[in-house]
Amino acid sequence: MHDFLVDLLICPKCYGELDWQIEQRSLNHIEKGEARCQVCHTSYPVQDGIGYFLLPDSGREDLWQEVDSHLVQHLQQNPEIEKRLMGVPLETLSPADQFFRAMVHEEREEFELAEESQSVANSGIYTDAYLSCWQSQTKYLMDRLASNDKPLIDLASGRGYLVEKLAQNHDFPIVATDFSPKVMRRNRRWFEYLGISDRVSLLAFDATKMPFKDASLEIMTSNLGLPNIKGPSELLHELRRVLAGRFMSITHFYPVDDNQNRELLRQANLETMLVRDLASAAFEQSGLQVEFTNICLSLAEPTPVGVVLEGAGIDALPVAETNLEWCLLEAQQSSKAKH
Ligand SMILES: C[S@@+](CC[C@H](N)C(=O)[O-])C[C@H]1O[C@@H](n2cnc3c(N)ncnc32)[C@H](O)[C@@H]1O
Repeated sequence: MHDFLVDLLICPKCYGELDWQIEQRSLNHIEKGEARCQVCHTSYPVQDGIGYFLLPDSGREDLWQEVDSHLVQHLQQNPEIEKRLMGVPLETLSPADQFFRAMVHEEREEFELAEESQSVANSGIYTDAYLSCWQSQTKYLMDRLASNDKPLIDLASGRGYLVEKLAQNHDFPIVATDFSPKVMRRNRRWFEYLGISDRVSLLAFDATKMPFKDASLEIMTSNLGLPNIKGPSELLHELRRVLAGRFMSITHFYPVDDNQNRELLRQANLETMLVRDLASAAFEQSGLQVEFTNICLSLAEPTPVGVVLEGAGIDALPVAETNLEWCLLEAQQSSKAKH
């Protein structure tokens, strides 16, 4: 993690100041060390360049555990299926199987093969309109950041699709964040492979309990990350607390009258961030003024299931064909809330 982060970070549990013990550095990065809260004495390790600011009760996996995914375990136990997935020409597989093959390559750290499989899979999994709206939002966001020189904090970065694009096109420092230590460790190796690890920091934390000082962050982003974060009101409360400048999130919304998908969104408690009017109301209620720019509509279909990995699914949504409204959701402190 970049050493400038030391000035921005606080204890995510009680918001106390931190004492730092830095054991190993490389250039402007902290590789190994520990931050300890002056108030509640919780300690947060930095290991292999990744800052772990997860709360002990967050229910996340053990920080240092290296577990093979269910998929890799399944293939180890079923060598015949492994051969049919990994040992045949890529183009003979169904799009969903191509996607799973990318996951396996990635776990084996065969990054070039993972990239190839993923990119072939995407064109069979998503409609052209879906992919072009997504690309349009990514490009729009990158253009909007052309003159930025402040550090950018990306929330729920996952496997870092957006972080990767930003780091390849801009010079400002980027902080990739996610509450999964496993994803962070994978990103460390992936970003090294891409040659961008000197400009990207990795922080593991829960977006509903952020380890940042009040009004400390000028630029924050997310790429389709918001609906994944359970507890939208806690997330927005934290966003309002830490945000000094602008939050820009690539987002898509479901139509108000799409009863089939909305029923599932309701059951899974996902409606707030996936229905535009509800998202707008939730941001405003939290004291954040919100606007939706670069709007773009696309047909979206349920993602296909595996053939070799029989019946295995990719995205849980949509469950029925729909028209998604894509946009860049932009939020800042509302002027009412500022005074
Ligand atoms: C599908 S990814 C989003 C795509 C990603 N932004 C990209 O550009 O590739 C969603 C991520 O949200 C993360 N996530 C879910 N809940 C979270 C939380 N409360 N705090 C931080 N990350 C969270 C998950 O671990 C997952 O990696």
